Amino acid sequence: MQKSFSTEKPIQSGVIFQKNESSGLTEVQYEIRILDPSYLPRIMELQQLIIENLLNKDTLQPFPADFMKEHLGRKGFVLGVLSGNDLLAFRNVYFPDINDTEWNLGIDLEFPSRILNKVANLQMVCVHPSCRGNSIATTMNRHAIRIIKELGIRDHVCATVSPYNFWNIKILLACGFIIKKLTKKYGGKLRYVVHQDLNCPMSFESGSSQPVVLTNFIKQHEMLSNGWYGTNLNVSREDAGRPFYENMLLTFSRQTEPLNAG
Ligand SMILES: CC(C)(COP(=O)(O)OP(=O)(O)OC[C@H]1O[C@@H](n2cnc3c(N)ncnc32)[C@H](O)[C@@H]1OP(=O)(O)O)[C@@H](O)C(=O)NCCC(=O)NCCS
Repeated sequence: MQKSFSTEKPIQSGVIFQKNESSGLTEVQYEIRILDPSYLPRIMELQQLIIENLLNKDTLQPFPADFMKEHLGRKGFVLGVLSGNDLLAFRNVYFPDINDTEWNLGIDLEFPSRILNKVANLQMVCVHPSCRGNSIATTMNRHAIRIIKELGIRDHVCATVSPYNFWNIKILLACGFIIKKLTKKYGGKLRYVVHQDLNCPMSFESGSSQPVVLTNFIKQHEMLSNGWYGTNLNVSREDAGRPFYENMLLTFSRQTEPLNAG
């Protein structure tokens, strides 16, 4: 029987640093919870603020309220970081239908049709600009993956990420995802499709990795089509402040042969 999740109890609490108006840092208490549908207006408000502040509007695919609402229990769940009544961050998880060509990323990755009902998506993550730098997205991703595992209904987790969203690429790779495809999604936007198999993490050959400049999409597409996977992104601190995408290197690796390969 499918397990359910509780929106009643916090799943983590603690203290984070928030930038204040005088550019100093203030300690604030927070809780991470699974949000119930009453949070929809606050989620939409935070999404709007994030969109207004994006350096590159192409990096985030906005959700209308009716689609966001589907994540709040019926077809997924949303983790929220709350400080009192303020929503500081959210991460949503979606359980797409097997024939949903937009959101079932197993279709993009050419999974056999029998496992398309086992795919979950990490859909959208937003952290209020005043709270960035607390690794909140990483923390929420790890809880999201743990909860998906505990629910026991999905074995594969996928997500899309823009090649220009190097913060989020780094976070997804650190959370166990592998870049498997470079494609156009959402009406022509360039996206990596990332994946992790919850039961069978991939391992990679040591000593055979190849770095490719983040903006060399032709080379990356060629590598991904020839059995290489994107596994690491190197961004120097200097580049993170003023994005010089051409200085960033995406590392490609080859999967280790399974032990029982004949
Ligand atoms: C991606 C995102 C959720 C990461 O937030 P986060 O969890 O706070 O990130 P981290 O704590 O891992 O940040 C690591 C470093 O990168 C910086 N950073 C993270 N996101 C940043 C951003 N969008 N702009 C500038 N710097 C950013 C942090 O300040 C921190 O710097 P520091 O090491 O000097 O302290 C956040 O950037 C965000 O909300 N972006 C807009 C929405 C988005 O693009 N979502 C993904 C697509 S759905």
